[in-house]
Amino acid sequence: MGEQPTRVDDAEPPPRRTADDAGRSTDRGADGSSPATDRGADGSGPLAERGAGAEPDAPRPPAPGGLPLLGNVHELASDALGFYGRRAAAHGGVVRYDVFGTESYLVTDPAAVRRVLVDDHDRYEKGEMPRSRLGGLLGDGLFLAEDDDWREQRTTVRSAFFRERVAEYGDAMVDHARRAAAQWDDGEVVDVHAAATDYAFAVLAESLLGRDVERERETVRAAAESVTERFDTGRMTSFLPEWVPTPANRRYRRRIGALRSTIRTLVAERRAAGPPADPGAADDLLGTLVAAAELGAMGDDRLVDNAVTFLFAGHETSALGLTYALYCLADRPEFQERVRREVAALDGDPRPADLGACPALTAAVDEALRLYPPVHTFFREPTEAVRLGGYRVPAGVVVTLSPWAVHRDGRWWDDPTAYRPERWLRDGAAGPADGDEAGGPVHGDEAPGPAVGERPEYAYFPFGGDPRHCIGMHFARQELRLATATLLRRLRLEPVTTDLSVRASVNTRPDGPVRVRVRTLEEPLDANEPSDTS
Ligand code: HEM
Repeated sequence: MGEQPTRVDDAEPPPRRTADDAGRSTDRGADGSSPATDRGADGSGPLAERGAGAEPDAPRPPAPGGLPLLGNVHELASDALGFYGRRAAAHGGVVRYDVFGTESYLVTDPAAVRRVLVDDHDRYEKGEMPRSRLGGLLGDGLFLAEDDDWREQRTTVRSAFFRERVAEYGDAMVDHARRAAAQWDDGEVVDVHAAATDYAFAVLAESLLGRDVERERETVRAAAESVTERFDTGRMTSFLPEWVPTPANRRYRRRIGALRSTIRTLVAERRAAGPPADPGAADDLLGTLVAAAELGAMGDDRLVDNAVTFLFAGHETSALGLTYALYCLADRPEFQERVRREVAALDGDPRPADLGACPALTAAVDEALRLYPPVHTFFREPTEAVRLGGYRVPAGVVVTLSPWAVHRDGRWWDDPTAYRPERWLRDGAAGPADGDEAGGPVHGDEAPGPAVGERPEYAYFPFGGDPRHCIGMHFARQELRLATATLLRRLRLEPVTTDLSVRASVNTRPDGPVRVRVRTLEEPLDANEPSDTS
């Protein structure tokens, strides 16, 4: 593993060595209700199944009924997360559902998830579904680009996410957490969702788009709010295309237009100031993008698409990850104390290089991302008929991958709905749970997972999977851990919201404020408080 700029995706993550790789648990990977296991009916493994992609005889996945025309929209609109979980439990790892006549397949068997994301990734594209929903926002940026266009873009922007570059964003991550902590009084009840949203925005603005974006905070906030509204699956209208002139859609288009023109202005200012000659030498992501555009690697529209993409893909997801980590730790005081002891032992506030020595902190965050994956589902479209979980799935349909459903599946996780960070620590001891052998992944630092125990690799995939896994994964994991550590060095968190309820908006959002009481530590662990707490 290494973030060497040699090929498009050699930077991250490392090939994850798991029980699957060791051949220990592949027989657990198939869903019991499938007519054939995902290893193929002949048991000859994934590559054999790949060859049988268009096999006409394989059965179609189960298709339990929905309403004519509407399909399963009503169930999705009332409780999408519950719907995914129930469908998976009742009908197995690959099951059909329909949305306004669009044929969709929910894939929750980890072996089938791996097949889609890794083994057969070249038989899938992101497809029409995310494009029709997100295209107006993300344009042709990295998130939605396909084939060679995607490969070129990923190569162009990846240097902004190399480990050593991400480490440079560490100061901003710690500094903004210090400022948040300094604003809270002893005994104050804080909505950690609101606080984490402000925090993640400030960090992203400073780390990736430069301080300039603070100036345009309201434009960006308004756009983000409209994005949330537009993709809130609690509203039936969120399933309608963007061109349908509902009030929410009109507002959304107006605010996204304003956001794009704001970014154009920032780009023009960077140009006028003279961009760095080498994208790899830029101070931030916008600098990387502008430098790449100057070298002819990316046109202006694409540049704006990507700036919006990073803002959109990195802001709410990280905010939610931090929200859930803090909420969960408030609810588990003894584990919170364990993390605090770990970070109290550091020499001052945490630095990125310290994180490898903080297994309990890492476990706390990884487990929060399991229980409340910020991205509850994402989508693919097969470009040809494929075989999945022993079934034949036609070309052109929507394939829905759901970290939410898989992370909460009792077949892979004991007590799946409980927050138990200990499951990521071998025997509950301090130390990496797995994979610190030479050349292998160092759990807790390089890449999340696997937790202790035997389970398929893709029983945990909060950041998606190769080769289109989240490019911001290191950034986000570093951010969540640095923020949590910085806060816990100053504060004790006590639960106020005790029964967290979440729903499937564009991401996994809490239903209301997530309240936590903060207790400032009698003896602060660090004297290095910010002088400016505004
Ligand atoms: C806890 C925080 C985050 C989570 C849970 C998360 C999750 C994900 C997931 C599941 C995907 C795969 C989507 C797919 O395959 O269709 C993805 C892709 C992506 N993420 Fe993240 N993400 C997070 C933070 C970030 C950050 C901080 C950034 C950037 C600053 C970012 C930028 C992206 C981009 C650009 C892609 C598309 C990559 C490609 O297709 O090559 N994400 N993310």
